[in-house]
Amino acid sequence: MPTLPGRRILLGVTGGIAAYKAADLTRRLIEIGAEVQVVMSEGAKRFVGVATFQALSGRPVRDSLWDAQAEGHMGHIELARWPDLILIAPATADVIARLAHGRADDLLTTLVLASDKPVAIAPAMNRLMWAKAVTQDNVAKLVARGVHVLGPGAGFQACGEVGEGRMREPLEIRDDVVRLLAAGPMRGRHAVVTAGPTREPIDPVRFITNRSSGKQGYALASALAQLGARVTLVSGPTNLAVPAGVMRVDVETAQQMCDAALKAAADADVFVGAAAVADYRAAEVAREKIKKKADRLSLDLTRNDDILVRVRGARPDLFMVGFAAETEKLEQHAREKLEKKKLDLIAANWVGGGRAFDRDDNQLNVFWSAGGVRELAHAGKEQLARELAALIVERFQARAVPAKAKSPQKTK
Ligand code: C5P
Repeated sequence: MPTLPGRRILLGVTGGIAAYKAADLTRRLIEIGAEVQVVMSEGAKRFVGVATFQALSGRPVRDSLWDAQAEGHMGHIELARWPDLILIAPATADVIARLAHGRADDLLTTLVLASDKPVAIAPAMNRLMWAKAVTQDNVAKLVARGVHVLGPGAGFQACGEVGEGRMREPLEIRDDVVRLLAAGPMRGRHAVVTAGPTREPIDPVRFITNRSSGKQGYALASALAQLGARVTLVSGPTNLAVPAGVMRVDVETAQQMCDAALKAAADADVFVGAAAVADYRAAEVAREKIKKKADRLSLDLTRNDDILVRVRGARPDLFMVGFAAETEKLEQHAREKLEKKKLDLIAANWVGGGRAFDRDDNQLNVFWSAGGVRELAHAGKEQLARELAALIVERFQARAVPAKAKSPQKTK
């Protein structure tokens, strides 16, 4: 699902060895639907060829204020108005200094000066250059003027030194961009989603699991991120890629999922339990592989905690959404769970006979208190996730309003 369909990013690439990572970044941004216009500095072109960026972005690279042909096509003032975001990655110490001083001595700095669009920089330089007081002053000036500074990260540097100054990884920058551009109703909110199956070990080589693919939970995490939420996805083992703009915490067992969910829920605004959590685990996990000796073998199982119940216990105020997979009496069973688990919303679907599990389509009936109900018609899981995310926002906001209205009114 494209996370940034049609969003325009002007990617400024300046002259550092990390320029090669900007090629991957271009691809990652295109992959999630963005349009990318690359502007290279003279220094950048010494590290990576123009043709690379041209091929990846599908647009001619701009590199000069004095290119009459390019200016004739889209002048630099028009180009400065074009993007939703100006992203400079890598940003060298030199370009940071020039931006801090309002210079306009090449195309990129001129565009930044001529634009009123948000600007983000991903610094990349030797650790001593980054640590220098003058660089830190320049960065502080840019931050004070509203420039978003992404990173830098710490670690091994191309110059052979170890320290702070290396550019953030392309996927991390992509996620930063998704967050920066998300302007939806969940902006500033933290949503936690559990997804996928759990694995309950029996012995060192065997486990109990279920058919959940995680697709619905992942699609929901992605939809909430697109509405502007910061999303933590607590995921059991799946084959799915982490959606753009989402932070994934990997777990295996129900107990691990419960611990991770409780931790993430501590500062959450919305919690969605989309995982197919194993209800039981082996009472004792065999230390050695169980041998086939007898004709019959019994497994002693013990109940797992219900994660939704535990999270509700820790956060009575949290807006919580659960799922119910039923083979009969859908509404009755879903409403019982709504009440028993003290949920704000429950999304129920029929299962069995090949429905819902490990498929790309589904159908959901969503219930809430006082008889609230909404039917989300049969559709792909991504479409359904967008509709469910919109309903979550609607109910979340509806709940938030009466709480505010109750606060004492000022009287004259
Ligand atoms: O009770 P049942 O398993 O049908 O409830 C399903 C809902 O409860 C789902 O939202 C699922 O993620 C959640 N659940 C949970 N912890 C469990 C079992 C289910 O959070 N141990």
